[in-house]
Amino acid sequence: MDVLSKTFYDQLVQLGSQREEITPIIKERATDFIKSLTIWQILALVSCLYWALTSFAARTEDGYLKEWGDQWAMNTLWSHSEVPIKAISENRNDQMGKYLEAVRKELDYALEMEVPDAEDWISIDVQLMIQKLLARLVGKMIVGKPACRSPEWMDLAEHFTEDFITASIIMRLVPKWMHPLLTEVIPQRRRLRKRLQGVFNITDPCVARHEEAKMKRKQGLEIEEEDNMVAWILDNIKDQDYVLKNLNKLVVVMLVPAAHTKSPTLHEEILQVNKEHGEIGEKLPMKEWVTKLELLDSFFNGSQRLSQPLAITPNRYAVEDITFKDSLQVPKGALLGWVSIHNQIDSNIAPEPEKFDPMRSYGKRQVAAEECHKHLAGQPSLENLTFGYGSQACPGRNIAISILKMVVSRLLRDYEFKFADDQSKPKNIYLLEFIIPDPKARLMIRKRK
Ligand code: HEM
Repeated sequence: MDVLSKTFYDQLVQLGSQREEITPIIKERATDFIKSLTIWQILALVSCLYWALTSFAARTEDGYLKEWGDQWAMNTLWSHSEVPIKAISENRNDQMGKYLEAVRKELDYALEMEVPDAEDWISIDVQLMIQKLLARLVGKMIVGKPACRSPEWMDLAEHFTEDFITASIIMRLVPKWMHPLLTEVIPQRRRLRKRLQGVFNITDPCVARHEEAKMKRKQGLEIEEEDNMVAWILDNIKDQDYVLKNLNKLVVVMLVPAAHTKSPTLHEEILQVNKEHGEIGEKLPMKEWVTKLELLDSFFNGSQRLSQPLAITPNRYAVEDITFKDSLQVPKGALLGWVSIHNQIDSNIAPEPEKFDPMRSYGKRQVAAEECHKHLAGQPSLENLTFGYGSQACPGRNIAISILKMVVSRLLRDYEFKFADDQSKPKNIYLLEFIIPDPKARLMIRKRK
């Protein structure tokens, strides 16, 4: 027992022995205190107590406290349900191709809304531009049109993740027992709860629209409804009570990783692919068209290897005690994380590990016929753990790479980019395990002449 606990313990023992003398004094003071209160003060006190008890009970009941109070908040929200993973990765009847096709159809509108019509060089916040573009595109895939164009969706996509990450950092800096209190105090948590509840304002009309479309289809009417993940969930998940009650969380779990699908740039190859295969989706479906961009693929891999969003991934949570063959014991509740950025300094994993080589993966694929389907962007490997590893690796990785290729190839085809004269590649910011691109970074953009 440390000195502080010992002192406290001694005081308790002393108090215990004096209990008989102290109890009447406490009773008397408490009665005096209650008598001194006005009726309004009593009402306020009772309301506070009632609010504290009911809100605590409600949160503990549906796991809310665990979800939003856990210091590894991201992990607990993520591991709640298999439904989003199924909606993203279930590929019967070429479901992924259908989502990508829906996304492609939104591209022109999204570019028109978010990319400035710059005839001459102007400076832009490129991260914000990409973030908004992606919010629109993944919105088409998750909630469909018109929800993906609504201000509510754009607000959710733009702000949910930043509050989520900030809140989870703050929570991690304080002891767990303070979480229930802190969750009421910090503005990020309040905004998260409000936005999470507000997701129903986005999804309720989607559900109604989908139900109406189904009914009309049954009557043999032609319906214009493109594939989206919410509709897939409504059609394919048996427990509809669960789905309707938790649709807000399911949507957020799909949105957060999808909307932060960021990566940088290439040009001649893009022109060549456009020349040979037409515009994206014109002669070839998007899913096949994007595979033609092999240099861009290798570029993404190289860029991601050195600029991953998380320094520690994959993360696994021990749901029971585990003893490995070499008798290493992992207790229930432990969180295991791999230092994914280790590959950036280990030459056994990647020769000249610190060097950015956009052709690294492309070169490897040319070495032998059996290598040509390996080393592609989105394939987890020891060199690149950006998408995690193993059976639980990111289910949206192929979608992410396809959307990135579509967006970047269009931007590079139609626009030129450069740093302003006094700027160079922005530095990453390291905050706990999060690796954040410099939020102040800007780029110059103009339409290609
Ligand atoms: C560049 C973009 C992306 C990156 C870097 C990324 C990264 C990751 C990582 C590291 C994980 C954890 C994997 C593990 O534990 O082994 C993950 C999980 C996940 N990702 Fe992605 N992701 C991206 C895009 C997407 C997209 C576009 C979607 C949805 C369409 C998506 C949906 C998910 C979901 C639902 C999980 C949780 C899977 C689970 O709980 O087992 N991600 N992602």
